[in-house]
Amino acid sequence: MIVLPRFEKASFDNYECTTNEQQRLVETLRRGVQNGFDRNIVILGSVGTGKTHLAFAVKNALSKVDEFRGMKFYTDDRCAYMTAKTLIDDIHEAWKDRDCENPVYKLTKTDLLILDEMGLSQNERTELYDLINARYERCKPMICISNNTKTELQKVLGQRIYDRISGGAEFFEISGESYRQKVA
Ligand SMILES: Nc1ncnc2c1ncn2[C@@H]1O[C@H](COP(=O)(O)OP(=O)(O)OP(=O)(O)O)[C@@H](O)[C@H]1O
Ligand SMILES: [Mg+2]
Repeated sequence: MIVLPRFEKASFDNYECTTNEQQRLVETLRRGVQNGFDRNIVILGSVGTGKTHLAFAVKNALSKVDEFRGMKFYTDDRCAYMTAKTLIDDIHEAWKDRDCENPVYKLTKTDLLILDEMGLSQNERTELYDLINARYERCKPMICISNNTKTELQKVLGQRIYDRISGGAEFFEISGESYRQKVA
């Protein structure tokens, strides 16, 4: 994926922790980057609390950056980041266009998959189930990020996906004001 200017420099060091829960999350993610992630991590929280920032702190630590025709791309397959929407769009694209590689194959293999803005319609659940199940069967970790509460997440992911993601997972709930408003 291309390097996003907003998160290009995102790291654990430039993430400000104001709550114990944020501290606990940063420590857990740092440990994961250092030693590998041995379980799924679910990060829930209100808007602008730095969930995506931390996702890229992980990605920037694990992925290398390459430059091609003036554009910067992440090249490392150790960690993939996608929003649920872009993943679903890419899956649909692959169905339409035979030359387009189905992302599910690659994302089953990547060491760590970070899925942001998790929330799925009924059809999307069916489309994503194979990937979630394939990673579950291979004991490959995921970091799932959402604005929903735990109860809401259960509903928007459906039982089968939620069960596979949440079983043995470590949950973090980040609350607080939006950092975007602070900066502005
Ligand atoms: N605790 C923090 N310390 C430093 N920067 C932060 C912190 N929280 C957020 N930011 C910065 O604020 C902006 C918004 O953060 P981010 O996009 O990660 O929020 P989010 O939790 O993913 O929000 P949303 O739920 O709306 O997607 C980013 O530029 C991010 O780098
Ligand atoms: Mg976000």
